Amino acid sequence: MLEGPESFGNFAGRASSKWRRFPEDVLPMHVAEMDLEVAEPIRRRLVEMVNNSDMGYLGPLPELAPAFKKFAKNRWNWEIDDQGIRLATDVGVAAVEILRKVAKPGDRVLINSPTYSSFFKWIAEVEMVPHDAPLVLRENRWSLNLDAIEEAFKAGVRVYLLCSPQNPVGTVHTREELSRVAELAAKYGALVVSDEIHAPLSWKPFTPFLSLGESANDHAVTITSTSKAWNTAGLKAGFLISQSSAIKDVMRSLPEAMNWRASLLGAFSMVEAYKNGENWLDETVKIIHENFTFLRFELAKQLPKAKFFDMSATYLAWLDLSAYGLDNLQGRLLQDGKVAVVSGPEHSHDGKYQDFIRFNFATSQTRISEAVRRMASVLEA
Ligand SMILES: Cc1ncc(COP(=O)(O)O)c(C=O)c1O
Repeated sequence: MLEGPESFGNFAGRASSKWRRFPEDVLPMHVAEMDLEVAEPIRRRLVEMVNNSDMGYLGPLPELAPAFKKFAKNRWNWEIDDQGIRLATDVGVAAVEILRKVAKPGDRVLINSPTYSSFFKWIAEVEMVPHDAPLVLRENRWSLNLDAIEEAFKAGVRVYLLCSPQNPVGTVHTREELSRVAELAAKYGALVVSDEIHAPLSWKPFTPFLSLGESANDHAVTITSTSKAWNTAGLKAGFLISQSSAIKDVMRSLPEAMNWRASLLGAFSMVEAYKNGENWLDETVKIIHENFTFLRFELAKQLPKAKFFDMSATYLAWLDLSAYGLDNLQGRLLQDGKVAVVSGPEHSHDGKYQDFIRFNFATSQTRISEAVRRMASVLEA
């Protein structure tokens, strides 16, 4: 295994999916886990709970609303409605249960490809159908196509799974774009399900959908968790937030099991992250932003024909490798280069993005450089 700087963990003995999916000689740059040490306040809280054998079911969690309220105000100047929070097993379960409640099998769900690959699995799980309004590339930034979104609403689509910020392109949608989405949702009576799990990892100003005023409150629910930004995905806890009485009523009618199926350790790690994890978060955003610049530099040096785009959040790079004209990119990089990435077509429902990959750069610069070197050994050969 390659060494990393001090802030990166010692991976030996880690058992998460990132370290088990592929053989040891493969560099895992695929799944969205960071190689950082988890924030000390979270680890301390978990150790206390484990030492106290405090591992029962998750009951009420009155600590979450004030902790998130303070964080959201401080970070995004968002005054949340603390009566609108509901715990969920994780973000995926929240999305699935909301879809099940507000739509029926066969209904269309609006997405913007390229988007998080599990969106397609969640939509399939509830027997619905994705309706794509693809992002468009403008000035090297992947952006929402507001006209295509309106066309979808006009065509009768009534639920919109928005990825904000957007995995895998790292776009932070602007306040103006999101305000227009809120206006359109109000005009056509649609519900926006805004997945904001990556929001704390933004280095440009992020706009929470529910900070946009009445139209947004009346037509949206936000689903989120600290599990991505504080790197605790295996702990299983998330929540949703709604801010109008009509949407709150719908969310109250979601299955109680969402709460029971969340983990006590995960729930308290969320409280700890919002209360005491902001310094760690600031440091992490700085590191991934530096890595973004480093990756751009490495690509220019080692893979000069790769196209890399502007990003404002997250550690997942979307790379266009079409200039190399290689079939089965992800398979070849894995087999011949011993680098695991996520294949482009997983980010659409219809096989688009064959020439793209998603590459996780939340690791040491040594490993980023080595992964790019291995990719170059396949692509530049
Ligand atoms: C946009 C987005 N939503 C949700 C998730 C997964 O969240 P959870 O593990 O809480 O279901 C991810 C994981 O990478 C993600 O990128």
